[in-house]
Amino acid sequence: METPFNVFDLFRVDGDVALVTGAGSGIGKMAATTLASAGARVAVTDVDGDAAKTVAAEINHAGGDAIAYALDVADESAIVDTIAKAYAEFGSLCILVNNAGITRRIPTEEFSSQDWHDILDVNLTAAFVACREAGRHMLAAGDGRIINVSSIMGLSGGGLFPSIGYYSTKGALVNLTRGLAAEWAPRGVRVNAIAPTFVKTQLTVKLREDEEMVAAIEGRTPMGRFAEPEEMAGGILYLASRASSMVTGHVLAIDGGWLAI
Ligand SMILES: NC(=O)c1ccc[n+]([C@@H]2O[C@H](COP(=O)([O-])OP(=O)(O)OC[C@H]3O[C@@H](n4cnc5c(N)ncnc54)[C@H](O)[C@@H]3O)[C@@H](O)[C@H]2O)c1
Repeated sequence: METPFNVFDLFRVDGDVALVTGAGSGIGKMAATTLASAGARVAVTDVDGDAAKTVAAEINHAGGDAIAYALDVADESAIVDTIAKAYAEFGSLCILVNNAGITRRIPTEEFSSQDWHDILDVNLTAAFVACREAGRHMLAAGDGRIINVSSIMGLSGGGLFPSIGYYSTKGALVNLTRGLAAEWAPRGVRVNAIAPTFVKTQLTVKLREDEEMVAAIEGRTPMGRFAEPEEMAGGILYLASRASSMVTGHVLAIDGGWLAI
Protein backbone atom coordinates (compact mmCIF):
# COMPACT_ATOMS: atom_id res chain seq x y z
CA MET A 1 0.00 0.00 0.00
CA GLU A 2 1.24 3.50 -0.86
CA THR A 3 1.48 5.76 2.18
CA PRO A 4 2.83 9.29 2.36
CA PHE A 5 5.42 8.12 4.87
CA ASN A 6 6.91 4.94 6.25
CA VAL A 7 5.39 4.42 9.68
CA PHE A 8 8.44 2.49 10.85
CA ASP A 9 10.52 5.67 10.46
CA LEU A 10 8.57 7.09 13.39
CA PHE A 11 10.18 4.47 15.61
CA ARG A 12 13.75 5.37 14.59
CA VAL A 13 15.83 7.24 17.15
CA ASP A 14 18.91 7.67 14.97
CA GLY A 15 21.62 9.70 16.65
CA ASP A 16 19.57 10.36 19.77
CA VAL A 17 21.51 9.89 23.00
CA ALA A 18 19.86 7.68 25.61
CA LEU A 19 20.85 6.93 29.20
CA VAL A 20 19.46 3.81 30.86
CA THR A 21 19.86 2.98 34.56
CA GLY A 22 20.11 -0.62 35.73
CA ALA A 23 20.96 -1.56 32.14
CA GLY A 24 23.18 -4.50 33.04
CA SER A 25 20.37 -7.04 32.94
CA GLY A 26 16.67 -7.69 32.51
CA ILE A 27 14.39 -4.89 31.36
CA GLY A 28 17.16 -2.28 31.45
CA LYS A 29 19.39 -4.35 29.18
CA MET A 30 16.42 -4.82 26.86
CA ALA A 31 15.83 -1.03 26.86
CA ALA A 32 19.48 -0.26 26.07
CA THR A 33 19.77 -2.81 23.26
CA THR A 34 16.38 -1.90 21.81
CA LEU A 35 17.19 1.81 21.68
CA ALA A 36 20.61 1.04 20.18
CA SER A 37 19.03 -1.18 17.52
CA ALA A 38 16.74 1.72 16.59
CA GLY A 39 19.74 4.01 16.14
CA ALA A 40 20.34 5.60 19.54
CA ARG A 41 23.75 6.14 21.09
CA VAL A 42 23.46 4.68 24.57
CA ALA A 43 24.96 5.34 27.99
CA VAL A 44 24.63 1.92 29.61
CA THR A 45 24.71 2.36 33.39
CA ASP A 46 24.47 -0.14 36.22
CA VAL A 47 25.65 -0.56 39.81
CA ASP A 48 27.35 -3.67 38.43
CA GLY A 49 29.97 -1.98 36.27
CA ASP A 50 31.05 -5.25 34.64
CA ALA A 51 27.48 -6.03 33.59
CA ALA A 52 27.19 -2.53 32.09
CA LYS A 53 30.48 -3.08 30.21
CA THR A 54 29.24 -6.41 28.83
CA VAL A 55 26.01 -4.88 27.53
CA ALA A 56 27.84 -1.91 26.00
CA ALA A 57 30.32 -4.30 24.36
CA GLU A 58 27.46 -6.36 22.91
CA ILE A 59 25.91 -3.20 21.45
CA ASN A 60 29.22 -2.00 20.00
CA HIS A 61 29.99 -5.46 18.62
CA ALA A 62 26.65 -5.39 16.79
CA GLY A 63 27.59 -2.06 15.18
CA GLY A 64 25.94 0.25 17.70
CA ASP A 65 27.40 3.04 19.81
CA ALA A 66 27.44 2.58 23.57
CA ILE A 67 29.52 3.59 26.57
CA ALA A 68 29.33 1.82 29.93
CA TYR A 69 29.25 3.63 33.27
CA ALA A 70 29.28 2.10 36.75
CA LEU A 71 26.44 3.93 38.50
CA ASP A 72 24.81 3.17 41.83
CA VAL A 73 21.60 5.19 41.67
CA ALA A 74 21.34 5.09 45.46
CA ASP A 75 24.17 7.66 45.36
CA GLU A 76 22.66 11.00 44.32
CA SER A 77 25.98 12.66 43.58
CA ALA A 78 26.98 9.72 41.38
CA ILE A 79 23.83 10.27 39.29
CA VAL A 80 24.70 13.94 38.90
CA ASP A 81 28.30 13.10 37.92
CA THR A 82 27.37 10.30 35.49
CA ILE A 83 24.77 12.36 33.66
CA ALA A 84 27.27 15.21 33.37
CA LYS A 85 29.94 12.80 32.10
CA ALA A 86 27.61 11.14 29.57
CA TYR A 87 26.41 14.53 28.33
CA ALA A 88 30.01 15.69 27.90
CA GLU A 89 31.05 12.51 26.08
CA PHE A 90 28.05 12.22 23.76
CA GLY A 91 27.31 15.94 23.36
CA SER A 92 23.57 15.64 24.04
CA LEU A 93 21.02 13.63 26.01
CA CYS A 94 17.41 13.32 24.94
CA ILE A 95 16.21 9.91 26.17
CA LEU A 96 16.30 8.77 29.80
CA VAL A 97 15.06 5.41 31.03
CA ASN A 98 14.75 5.28 34.82
CA ASN A 99 14.80 1.52 35.14
CA ALA A 100 16.98 0.53 38.12
CA GLY A 101 14.78 -0.92 40.82
CA ILE A 102 14.86 -3.26 43.79
CA THR A 103 12.23 -5.05 45.83
CA ARG A 104 11.95 -6.52 49.32
CA ARG A 105 9.11 -8.90 50.03
CA ILE A 106 8.77 -8.50 53.81
CA PRO A 107 5.62 -8.12 55.94
CA THR A 108 5.17 -4.46 56.82
CA GLU A 109 5.38 -5.06 60.57
CA GLU A 110 8.92 -6.36 59.98
CA PHE A 111 9.86 -3.82 57.30
CA SER A 112 12.62 -1.72 58.86
CA SER A 113 13.11 1.99 58.29
CA GLN A 114 16.41 1.05 56.67
CA ASP A 115 14.54 -1.19 54.20
CA TRP A 116 12.19 1.71 53.53
CA HIS A 117 14.97 4.22 52.87
CA ASP A 118 16.97 1.76 50.74
CA ILE A 119 14.05 1.09 48.42
CA LEU A 120 12.99 4.74 48.33
CA ASP A 121 16.52 5.80 47.33
CA VAL A 122 16.78 3.36 44.40
CA ASN A 123 13.19 3.23 43.14
CA LEU A 124 12.08 6.83 43.60
CA THR A 125 14.67 9.40 44.65
CA ALA A 126 17.04 8.22 41.92
CA ALA A 127 14.38 8.72 39.27
CA PHE A 128 13.65 12.23 40.55
CA VAL A 129 17.34 13.19 40.57
CA ALA A 130 17.96 11.69 37.12
CA CYS A 131 14.89 13.49 35.71
CA ARG A 132 16.09 16.78 37.19
CA GLU A 133 19.66 16.42 35.91
CA ALA A 134 18.85 15.01 32.46
CA GLY A 135 15.79 17.25 32.28
CA ARG A 136 17.92 20.40 32.39
CA HIS A 137 19.69 19.33 29.19
CA MET A 138 16.42 18.27 27.58
CA LEU A 139 14.69 21.55 28.46
CA ALA A 140 17.62 23.52 27.10
CA ALA A 141 17.37 21.56 23.83
CA GLY A 142 13.55 21.68 23.79
CA ASP A 143 13.52 17.92 23.22
CA GLY A 144 13.36 15.06 25.66
CA ARG A 145 11.68 11.74 26.30
CA ILE A 146 11.73 10.18 29.76
CA ILE A 147 10.48 6.69 30.53
CA ASN A 148 10.03 5.62 34.12
CA VAL A 149 9.78 1.90 34.76
CA SER A 150 6.94 1.54 37.23
CA SER A 151 4.94 -1.68 37.62
CA ILE A 152 1.44 -3.06 37.74
CA MET A 153 2.09 -2.66 41.46
CA GLY A 154 2.30 1.11 40.93
CA LEU A 155 -1.37 1.05 40.01
CA SER A 156 -2.60 -1.51 42.52
CA GLY A 157 -1.91 -2.54 46.08
CA GLY A 158 -0.38 -5.92 45.39
CA GLY A 159 -2.34 -8.52 47.28
CA LEU A 160 -0.38 -11.70 46.54
CA PHE A 161 2.45 -10.92 48.96
CA PRO A 162 3.56 -8.02 51.15
CA SER A 163 6.06 -5.57 49.62
CA ILE A 164 5.03 -2.16 50.90
CA GLY A 165 8.21 -0.33 49.88
CA TYR A 166 7.82 -1.55 46.31
CA TYR A 167 4.12 -0.72 46.04
CA SER A 168 4.69 2.74 47.54
CA THR A 169 7.62 3.70 45.33
CA LYS A 170 6.14 2.32 42.12
CA GLY A 171 2.92 4.23 42.83
CA ALA A 172 4.87 7.42 43.48
CA LEU A 173 6.72 6.94 40.18
CA VAL A 174 3.36 7.09 38.42
CA ASN A 175 2.61 10.50 39.86
CA LEU A 176 6.20 11.70 39.36
CA THR A 177 5.57 10.83 35.71
CA ARG A 178 2.27 12.71 35.56
CA GLY A 179 3.52 15.77 37.43
CA LEU A 180 6.65 16.15 35.31
CA ALA A 181 4.69 15.49 32.14
CA ALA A 182 2.38 18.38 32.96
CA GLU A 183 5.23 20.68 33.97
CA TRP A 184 7.51 20.03 31.01
CA ALA A 185 5.04 19.36 28.18
CA PRO A 186 5.07 22.97 26.95
CA ARG A 187 8.87 22.84 26.75
CA GLY A 188 9.23 19.75 24.56
CA VAL A 189 9.96 17.12 27.17
CA ARG A 190 7.60 14.13 27.35
CA VAL A 191 7.47 11.95 30.44
CA ASN A 192 5.80 8.55 30.40
CA ALA A 193 5.99 5.27 32.27
CA ILE A 194 5.58 1.59 31.64
CA ALA A 195 3.84 -0.70 34.08
CA PRO A 196 5.08 -4.24 33.43
CA THR A 197 3.54 -7.35 34.88
CA PHE A 198 5.80 -10.06 36.32
CA VAL A 199 8.73 -10.46 33.93
CA LYS A 200 11.23 -13.32 33.73
CA THR A 201 14.30 -11.47 35.01
CA GLN A 202 16.73 -11.75 37.93
CA LEU A 203 14.25 -9.78 40.05
CA THR A 204 11.71 -12.60 39.93
CA VAL A 205 14.05 -15.61 40.10
CA LYS A 206 13.24 -16.39 43.75
CA LEU A 207 9.55 -15.80 43.27
CA ARG A 208 9.52 -18.15 40.28
CA GLU A 209 10.95 -20.94 42.46
CA ASP A 210 7.70 -20.88 44.44
CA GLU A 211 5.29 -23.02 42.43
CA GLU A 212 2.20 -21.91 44.35
CA MET A 213 3.09 -18.28 43.78
CA VAL A 214 3.68 -18.85 40.08
CA ALA A 215 0.29 -20.55 39.83
CA ALA A 216 -1.35 -17.67 41.70
CA ILE A 217 0.25 -15.06 39.42
CA GLU A 218 -0.56 -16.96 36.24
CA GLY A 219 -4.10 -17.57 37.48
CA ARG A 220 -4.55 -13.85 38.21
CA THR A 221 -3.24 -12.84 34.75
CA PRO A 222 -5.75 -12.96 31.88
CA MET A 223 -3.02 -14.03 29.48
CA GLY A 224 -2.02 -16.70 31.99
CA ARG A 225 1.75 -16.26 31.96
CA PHE A 226 4.77 -14.15 32.94
CA ALA A 227 6.21 -11.71 30.38
CA GLU A 228 9.55 -12.12 28.64
CA PRO A 229 11.94 -9.12 28.80
CA GLU A 230 11.64 -8.85 24.99
CA GLU A 231 7.96 -8.02 25.42
CA MET A 232 8.94 -4.69 27.05
CA ALA A 233 10.90 -3.56 23.97
CA GLY A 234 8.04 -2.29 21.80
CA GLY A 235 6.52 -0.16 24.57
CA ILE A 236 9.82 1.37 25.53
CA LEU A 237 10.73 2.24 21.94
CA TYR A 238 7.25 3.63 21.30
CA LEU A 239 7.53 6.02 24.25
CA ALA A 240 11.13 6.94 23.39
CA SER A 241 10.43 7.77 19.75
CA ARG A 242 8.39 10.14 17.57
CA ALA A 243 5.81 7.36 17.28
CA SER A 244 4.42 8.67 20.60
CA SER A 245 4.89 12.38 19.82
CA MET A 246 1.45 13.34 21.26
CA VAL A 247 1.74 11.09 24.31
CA THR A 248 2.81 12.37 27.71
CA GLY A 249 1.90 11.57 31.31
CA HIS A 250 0.82 8.11 30.21
CA VAL A 251 1.38 4.85 32.03
CA LEU A 252 1.55 2.03 29.51
CA ALA A 253 0.57 -1.28 31.06
CA ILE A 254 2.44 -4.19 29.51
CA ASP A 255 0.71 -6.69 31.68
CA GLY A 256 -1.11 -9.46 29.85
CA GLY A 257 -4.37 -7.91 31.05
CA TRP A 258 -3.52 -7.79 34.79
CA LEU A 259 -4.94 -4.30 35.25
CA ALA A 260 -7.97 -4.97 33.07
CA ILE A 261 -9.69 -7.01 35.76
N1 LIG B 1 10.77 -8.29 36.67
C1 LIG B 1 9.54 -7.90 36.95
O1 LIG B 1 8.65 -8.73 37.16
C2 LIG B 1 9.19 -6.44 36.98
C3 LIG B 1 7.83 -6.07 36.94
C4 LIG B 1 7.49 -4.73 36.98
C5 LIG B 1 8.49 -3.78 37.06
N2 LIG B 1 9.79 -4.16 37.11
C6 LIG B 1 10.80 -3.11 37.22
O2 LIG B 1 11.70 -3.18 36.15
C7 LIG B 1 12.94 -2.63 36.55
C8 LIG B 1 14.05 -3.57 36.14
O3 LIG B 1 13.87 -4.78 36.83
P1 LIG B 1 14.32 -6.19 36.25
O4 LIG B 1 13.19 -7.09 36.42
O5 LIG B 1 14.92 -6.02 34.91
O6 LIG B 1 15.39 -6.57 37.34
P2 LIG B 1 16.86 -7.14 37.25
O7 LIG B 1 17.20 -7.47 38.66
O8 LIG B 1 17.00 -8.17 36.19
O9 LIG B 1 17.71 -5.90 36.78
C9 LIG B 1 17.88 -4.78 37.57
C10 LIG B 1 19.20 -4.13 37.22
O10 LIG B 1 19.31 -2.99 38.04
C11 LIG B 1 20.58 -2.99 38.64
N3 LIG B 1 20.52 -2.28 39.90
C12 LIG B 1 20.07 -2.72 41.09
N4 LIG B 1 20.26 -1.79 42.03
C13 LIG B 1 20.87 -0.74 41.41
C14 LIG B 1 21.36 0.50 41.86
N5 LIG B 1 21.29 0.85 43.14
N6 LIG B 1 21.91 1.33 40.95
C15 LIG B 1 22.00 0.98 39.65
N7 LIG B 1 21.59 -0.20 39.18
C16 LIG B 1 21.03 -1.05 40.05
C17 LIG B 1 20.97 -4.43 38.78
O11 LIG B 1 22.39 -4.59 38.88
C18 LIG B 1 20.39 -5.05 37.53
O12 LIG B 1 21.30 -5.03 36.45
C19 LIG B 1 12.83 -2.39 38.05
O13 LIG B 1 12.55 -1.03 38.29
C20 LIG B 1 11.66 -3.24 38.45
O14 LIG B 1 11.02 -2.78 39.60
C21 LIG B 1 10.17 -5.45 37.05
